Amino acid sequence: MQQAVQLHHLRFVPYIKAADIQSRVQEIAAALSKRYEGQTPVFISILSGAFIYAADLMRAYEGPCETAFVKLSSYSGTQSGGTIKTEIGLEKHVEGRHLIVVEDIIDTGRTLHFFLKQLAEQKPASILVTAFLRKPDAAEYAVPAELVGYDIENRFVVGYGLDYDGLGRNLPDIYILEDAPE
Ligand code: IMP
Ligand code: MG
Repeated sequence: MQQAVQLHHLRFVPYIKAADIQSRVQEIAAALSKRYEGQTPVFISILSGAFIYAADLMRAYEGPCETAFVKLSSYSGTQSGGTIKTEIGLEKHVEGRHLIVVEDIIDTGRTLHFFLKQLAEQKPASILVTAFLRKPDAAEYAVPAELVGYDIENRFVVGYGLDYDGLGRNLPDIYILEDAPE
């Protein structure tokens, strides 16, 4: 595993190794393959962060499946409570389908809370959420994520699809923001 990395002006230190990430992804994919046996679920990846996890998860998934993408951004503006902005909407018709929503990380839960509400309006047969990371101490909205890779502390992480101001998505390991020196 690499040593610390610098992205813009911040230093990040190793947190979850690529090998551990890969074995956790295999476990989650195996659980999904079993659960959707005999069906053709649609993986809905939330761009940009989830693209790496979704690609690994789908390649480890055994059975027929389809894929779709949405691009969402958190938008709080002047409204309290905030909402999410849809940058790229769902093109696929998902009524009656079994949906697997793939997210990189659940932080406050705002993004998924609003997206799941929108998705439910399309009357899918079922919705399951998988997020590779979750920060339980940051939760502001309850999100029914059934398959989570790791629950982590409430600090900023990068790598495996996650960025800091555009950088770091390509790192195969996950890194955490280094504690600031006193
Ligand atoms: P939420 O809406 O607060 O749950 O935040 C979800 C989005 O914020 C994620 O999809 C990420 O894009 C971003 N995010 C939250 N925490 C982190 C982090 O530690 N590193 C990088 N991006 C993060
Ligand atoms: Mg994201």
